[in-house]
Amino acid sequence: MIPAAGAAAVRRELPTVADTECFGEELGRELVAGDVLLLAGPLGAGKTALVRGLARGLGVTGQVASPTFVIAREHPASGDGPALVHVDAYRLGGPDGSVDVAAELDDLDLDTELDRAVVAVEWGIGVADRLTERAVEVVLERRDDETRVATLRRTARP
Ligand SMILES: Nc1ncnc2c1ncn2[C@@H]1O[C@H](COP(=O)(O)OP(=O)(O)OP(=O)(O)O)[C@@H](O)[C@H]1O
Ligand SMILES: [Mg+2]
Repeated sequence: MIPAAGAAAVRRELPTVADTECFGEELGRELVAGDVLLLAGPLGAGKTALVRGLARGLGVTGQVASPTFVIAREHPASGDGPALVHVDAYRLGGPDGSVDVAAELDDLDLDTELDRAVVAVEWGIGVADRLTERAVEVVLERRDDETRVATLRRTARP
């Protein structure tokens, strides 16, 4: 399902939260350790819902929640597959944007996690790109009804 780097993006209509979770689950079955998933979309777009499905697809343990009090939460692998590190970059940077988000991300040492984990970053586009040369990006748009529209692409830095 994930397009090759540089190939046309995939668009998917997601009428319900269950559809968004299933979409995440499909992604989770394709992603491998070292993959970075960057999620964009407004508040309540369904980024965390997608990560819930992602955790299911990867088969990792632990309940996915909005990382409100922690910036990153690790879900250990339950078998041979990769672990999942779930980051919310919205909470990096401080309320007034005064903190250096890139430096905060560096402090999380995510590049060492990538040897054995998939890293998913909410609000990660344009912020967490430095973690990898080849990210998977999902942008979630909200329609007037409950439907979300996901645009999925694989990016590559030149
Ligand atoms: N089609 C849909 N896909 C995803 N979520 C939906 C959909 N329709 C309704 N919802 C609801 O929208 C909300 C999405 O919340 P979620 O926490 O996943 O968003 P988020 O993008 O992570 O928000 P935040 O920016 O605050 O982290 C949930 O309450 C969910 O039930
Ligand atoms: Mg969220």
